[in-house]
Order: sequence, then C-alpha cells, then structure tokens
Amino acid sequence: MDQENLLKTALEARKFAYAPYSHFTVGAALLAKDGTIYSGCNIENAAYGPSNCAERTAFFKAISEGKREFLAIAIVGGMEGSEATQYCPPCGVCRQVMAEFCNPEQFLIILGAKNQMFKEYKLKELLPLSFMLEKN
Ligand code: THU
Repeated sequence: MDQENLLKTALEARKFAYAPYSHFTVGAALLAKDGTIYSGCNIENAAYGPSNCAERTAFFKAISEGKREFLAIAIVGGMEGSEATQYCPPCGVCRQVMAEFCNPEQFLIILGAKNQMFKEYKLKELLPLSFMLEKN
C-alpha cells in the first residue's frame, strides 16, 4: 500500500473541489483492487441537498466504470485556500457507501493532514454494526 502516492492524488483532487457555500474543500483518492486510482472532490449545489462528498464522487466514478473491488481511500480536507491542517474523517453517508462495496475488515481509510502526517483506519472501526441486506 503506497499511502504517500494515494494522499498525493487526493491533494491534487482537492484543487478541483467546488465548494462556494461551505468553503470547505475535500479531495479523495480511491484505490481499486486492480491498482487503478479514482480521484474525487466535493461538489456543492445552491440547493445544498444535491451536494456530493469527495469520497462518493470517487466511488461513483469507479463503480460507473465497472470497478467493484477496492482496497483503500485517502482523504484530505480543510478550509478553502489553506492546507489540510486537521484530519477529515468521512461522513456517515460516505461510510455507508463504503460498506456497500468494501470488506470492513480490510478496506483502509487513510486520513491525511499537514507535514505528511496521516492516520489509517479499517472500515469496521469507523462503521461498526453497519446496516446490510442480503444481496440476491
Ligand atoms: N465533505 C466531503 O466531501 N467529505 C467529507 O468527508 C466531509 C465533508 C464536504 C461536503 C461539503 O461540500 C463540505 O465538505 C462541508 O461539509
């Protein structure tokens, strides 16, 4: 797992964030099992509700291109125009999307902050007892 490269891709994606309402910009980089990396940024909307988080942008890009297996996601966020000083943990909705496609024991969520600092969690640590239905 190349955390550094994934975090770098997330930082690049953060530059494309569209966040004129919150001014909080987020970038994500999702690593698929085949090695492909899908980036994503948050995309806000004047009606607020249609806004999309960086993590889900990355997941939906990957899934819409046929990927279903994932190893890790790197996330960086902070106020527009400033470095990602604090860790930006994924919101509950994004965690539920991760639970749909990722192994909770294996999927890694890598949170980046400044000075190359990062923290790593397994999905099951951030979303214990997740709601699931049998797939058929
Ligand atoms: N946001 C993300 O993109 N990912 C997160 O993990 C937390 C929040 C976005 C949503 C909204 O555009 C802005 O950050 C402020 O909540």
